[in-house]
Amino acid sequence: MNLQQLESTARELVPGGKGILAADESTGTVTKRFNAVDIESTEENRRAYREMLFTTPGIGEYLSGVILFDETIRQKASDGTPLLEVIERQGIIPGIKVDKSTVPLPLSPDEKYTQGLDGLRDRLEEYREMGARFTKWRAVITIGDSIPTVNCIESNARALALFAAFSQEAGLVPIVEPEVLIDGDHSIERSDEVNEWTLRSTFNALYEQGVHLEGALLKPNMVISGKDSPEQASIEEVARYTIKCMLRSVPAAVPGIVFLSGGQSDVSATEHLNAMNNAMYGNLPWEISFSWARALQGKPMEIWGGDSSNAKEAQKVFHHRARMASTARYGTYSEDMEDQAA
Ligand code: 13P
Repeated sequence: MNLQQLESTARELVPGGKGILAADESTGTVTKRFNAVDIESTEENRRAYREMLFTTPGIGEYLSGVILFDETIRQKASDGTPLLEVIERQGIIPGIKVDKSTVPLPLSPDEKYTQGLDGLRDRLEEYREMGARFTKWRAVITIGDSIPTVNCIESNARALALFAAFSQEAGLVPIVEPEVLIDGDHSIERSDEVNEWTLRSTFNALYEQGVHLEGALLKPNMVISGKDSPEQASIEEVARYTIKCMLRSVPAAVPGIVFLSGGQSDVSATEHLNAMNNAMYGNLPWEISFSWARALQGKPMEIWGGDSSNAKEAQKVFHHRARMASTARYGTYSEDMEDQAA
């Protein structure tokens, strides 16, 4: 294991002003998102859609990495260039989702367990040979009556730690994603409590597994009120709770925290990221960045709509969202920037 190489790749993924595009939706997830905007989910449509995103002119100015799904890493652009190479030509680092999605947690069917450890070593070898330089694994923690349970948190933390160890062994930087869902009517205080518990257990498992933290990234949710809570915390509260929770639970050795958007609107996710960096930029032990799917892709997907004649317009909107996220990396985003672009 080349620790220096892992460390430098991890740092290359979190430079100032840049973040990660998560374009690693499984076929099931992308089909749901396509169907919601009336796009047929064929292999060709999924390929063409991702080609549209990756060929957006100038997108490398705002993106350090793109996370791919197994199907996509094997696909080619319409001119025959592998999509992975299209990404590299934009100066962006290609990565790959390696978990095999969730199943109900045994004996606790309202919770999830993420599978995919069997055969992982061989799959990682193949992805590295194809040119991937980092990996992602998503665990899901649900807040509800009497959940999460300790067995949910612990079994997912253990799987995340094994995934991270296998990845580092293969020379790939792991993005460790324990997502605490925003679904539910819980308060921001409850979200804080569950996030802290999840993160502490995850880092404990990473330690026990011997994972080199300087060569890994964390992808958590922000500490935020449940989606259906009647009391929605303000932007400043989300920023304050999130930073405090991270300071209590995330070791300073980790180079970056790349938040997921988790169903927040694109503008909300941008405002929250901005508020954290606006208050603390340069004064935290880790970079505070983004690794977004929906908050970057929502509008572009709708505009593209499965029709290549809309590609230019969709790329413009995608470029704009990435630029907004980039300004939030420095804490210099403002809502006027949305109006100007409109
Ligand atoms: P969202 O930003 O849509 O939450 O997706 C991020 C992700 O990669 C989920 O695994």
